[in-house]
Amino acid sequence: MEILLDTANLQEIKLASKWIPICGITTNPTIICREHTNFFQRIKAIKNIIEKKQLHVQVVGNTWEQMIQNAEAILDNCRQEIHIKIPATYEGFRAMKELSDRDIPVTATTVYSPEQAILATLAGADCIAVYYNKMYNLNMDPQKTIWEISCIIKSSDKPPKILAASFRNSRQVVEAFLAGADAATLPYNILKEFWNNPAPAQAVREFQDDWEKEYSTA
Ligand code: E4P
Repeated sequence: MEILLDTANLQEIKLASKWIPICGITTNPTIICREHTNFFQRIKAIKNIIEKKQLHVQVVGNTWEQMIQNAEAILDNCRQEIHIKIPATYEGFRAMKELSDRDIPVTATTVYSPEQAILATLAGADCIAVYYNKMYNLNMDPQKTIWEISCIIKSSDKPPKILAASFRNSRQVVEAFLAGADAATLPYNILKEFWNNPAPAQAVREFQDDWEKEYSTA
């Protein structure tokens, strides 16, 4: 089971890396643009913070050739292991095959269906990013989709990891793992929901109060 952070914000990454056992970072073009910074410098800065942990970086481009060119630019500039995120589209499947043939880690992203996951697996993807909340907003059934994908890819020689993505609350993350996801990537504000429940803090305060009543030397 793995939790990754879906952000390119260095403060969030530094904070999370110190406090929470995250397994890596995922980004996408929108997340990068939100930082208004040099793309390659930010990718290198993220990698310097997380060191050996996974970093998934999504390519831009409409054709498979453009996606490959973008992937090569990312890898040439960053010179460290990076999982290249490729949309699970007609052009993307060709790009996935090209990169996986070069032993470059590939994450198939924008996955909404088992059909996309089947082709991404056959194209050599190491991870399949299923868009949980985006599917929910389209009145699709993300839990069933993750479950179906997890059943289907078992028959593959090298089953890819299901990396559930696109969350709007922590309950959706739980549902994704229950459905069979191997990993989940979530924004920092959703990760905070994992410890923001007031009940544990109240229980700790009560323990502390009882302890101090009994053992306080004041
Ligand atoms: C993961 O990296 C995805 O790109 C991301 O979660 C997309 O979904 P969202 O925009 O709904 O978060």
